[in-house]
Amino acid sequence: MSENVQEKKKVIFSAIQPSGTITLGNYLGALKNWVKLQDDYHCLYAVADLHAITVRQDPKAFRQNILNAYALFMACGIDPEKSPFFIQSHVHTHAELAWVLNCYTQFGELSRMTQFKDKSQKHADNINAGLFTYPSLMAADILLYQADLVPIGIDQKQHLELTRNIAERFNGIYGNTFKIPDGYYAKTGAKVMSLQDPTKKMSKSDENVNAWVGLLDKPETIMKKFKRAVTDSDAEVRVGEGKDGINNLIGIMSAVTGKTPDEITADFAGKGYGDFKTAVGEAVVEEIRPIQERFNDYINNKDYLEAQYRKSAEFALHLSQRTLDKVMKKIGYLPK
Ligand code: TYM
Repeated sequence: MSENVQEKKKVIFSAIQPSGTITLGNYLGALKNWVKLQDDYHCLYAVADLHAITVRQDPKAFRQNILNAYALFMACGIDPEKSPFFIQSHVHTHAELAWVLNCYTQFGELSRMTQFKDKSQKHADNINAGLFTYPSLMAADILLYQADLVPIGIDQKQHLELTRNIAERFNGIYGNTFKIPDGYYAKTGAKVMSLQDPTKKMSKSDENVNAWVGLLDKPETIMKKFKRAVTDSDAEVRVGEGKDGINNLIGIMSAVTGKTPDEITADFAGKGYGDFKTAVGEAVVEEIRPIQERFNDYINNKDYLEAQYRKSAEFALHLSQRTLDKVMKKIGYLPK
């Protein structure tokens, strides 16, 4: 990637938190797209480890989860030689710009974030200031690289809208400083639902382990989870109202195989839900199998991973520093 990214191809930025489990929802909603976009755009990707401490982390497990996430995203096809892929906490401009943007973000705006409301209910004993101001850090991540597009799942749309508002506000006060980014959503898979309650999104924080599929789940576990997936009493494989479970399974099948929902319905005409659930499970297992194999290679090659994330962080720092310097100057800080 050349240093002049801001003048040439469109720029893409996205990040994922390194929680213990990366789900099929993360993969279909975000990661699979990240991989596809690498050839046509200048992409930068990150493991959002600064975001992750808004909930309490065990230090040893956290360190391992960050490295696992890095290896897993590479196993999915992120290529740091093409797309700088770094660890957020290694690039100090993120935390610095986040502080600045906090001062251009309103309390009322942050209070309306549904993720904040959900998470503060779930972690009622630890509603920390970081959980509240988390969207300003996400805005900093994106705006530092003057990103045009941000590939995310639907659940992050509200944060992206806020990012746009913050950027427009800043530009309104100081003149053009930030590119206003657009969201980029998968055609299928942008909202993968829970296998146990298909009115809720698939989430790694769900207490019911049968609700989500992890990218590192064993094949037999994946099959079991799909066989237990909640459906309906209609017994026809087609998209329809009140068929949330089947709609979700068709969405997953479509995202994995590239077939349209109509083609999937035709394939399963006259067949029962049992056959369909088995077929979706098998398709997911086949999609994930090579990823798991590559993951095992990468995670056993820590020196290689380290070389990649160091080089990417250097590049990201260099690029993001330009935006940060511009911001500081506009606000009126004395140059260093
Ligand atoms: P996170 O780590 O919760 O999720 C990572 C990505 O996965 C998508 N996703 C889903 N997509 C479809 N169906 C689902 N069930 C599902 N669950 C998760 C998310 O939409 C996201 O794209 N704040 C972000 C991480 C972040 C970020 C950023 C993203 C930090 N800085 C800058 C973009 C740009 C987060 O917590 O995502």
